[in-house]
Amino acid sequence: MNAQAPVRRTNKSEIQPRRMDFSFDPEMPRYWFGGDQFKTLLLTALSCTFPEGERFFVRSVRHYQKNITDPDLRERVKGFIGQEAHHGNEHEHFNEFMENKGVPTRKVHDQVHEGLKWIAKKFSPERQLAKTCALEHFTAMLAELMLEEPEFLEGMDERMVPLWLWHAIEESEHKAVAFDVYRDQVDSYWVRTSEMAFTTVEFIGFTIYHYITLRQGMDDKADLRSVANGVNWLLGKPGWLRRLGRSYVSYYKPGFHPEKKDSRAVRQQALKKLAAMLGRPELADAA
Ligand SMILES: [Fe+2]
Ligand SMILES: [Fe+2]
Repeated sequence: MNAQAPVRRTNKSEIQPRRMDFSFDPEMPRYWFGGDQFKTLLLTALSCTFPEGERFFVRSVRHYQKNITDPDLRERVKGFIGQEAHHGNEHEHFNEFMENKGVPTRKVHDQVHEGLKWIAKKFSPERQLAKTCALEHFTAMLAELMLEEPEFLEGMDERMVPLWLWHAIEESEHKAVAFDVYRDQVDSYWVRTSEMAFTTVEFIGFTIYHYITLRQGMDDKADLRSVANGVNWLLGKPGWLRRLGRSYVSYYKPGFHPEKKDSRAVRQQALKKLAAMLGRPELADAA
């Protein structure tokens, strides 16, 4: 994997997009996550939703951008948009890499594209922004899990780690931006929490559906042992998904705010690791 390009400040906030230019070694095994089909395809299914999903997040925030008067929030919105745009581009490279390995990522990408087109037509801007806040909470929970529990990444091919680490750091960094825009511009408790409830069902349902779509389109569809181990990995022991329960429920509290959980220290630690892996010390300085 190669990654380069300098850290260039693009706004006056702490949220700065770190430019990457990942390329993935074609020699890497198809199942780069511990040789395991389930874990690799689960993360690939998420990756297939990122390019279009993150463009949706950006559009839903941009809709309100011109009405934001708080100068600090205006700068953070610029940082958020910059980071999400880069994530989408890099995950497109990754998805292409998996497509070349025989995993039908384009099919899932197209399903996501159609689904989000439908949502853009049917949902109000308030609901679209609330959906973005809900999904940003999911991504922040998963991201901070990766940052806080190095054990989660155990077995992942070293060449694949920087993509996930970089994305996790930036998701944690900008986790409150869409939420603050929502509070500034919409601020309905009912819309925020009801949208979280719908989005939870959609997120779980579609992740399973995308995973099945990927698997069904492959030349080695079945690895039931990896599915059984994977379900245990998520819900049993260590039970990564189960561990997110409390953090998930906190979203429904009237006083919830993403920054109530301060993750600066874990981000800084992860940035040091990323800088060392990529041989780019300036990444750790720019935190
Ligand atoms: Fe992202
Ligand atoms: Fe995000």
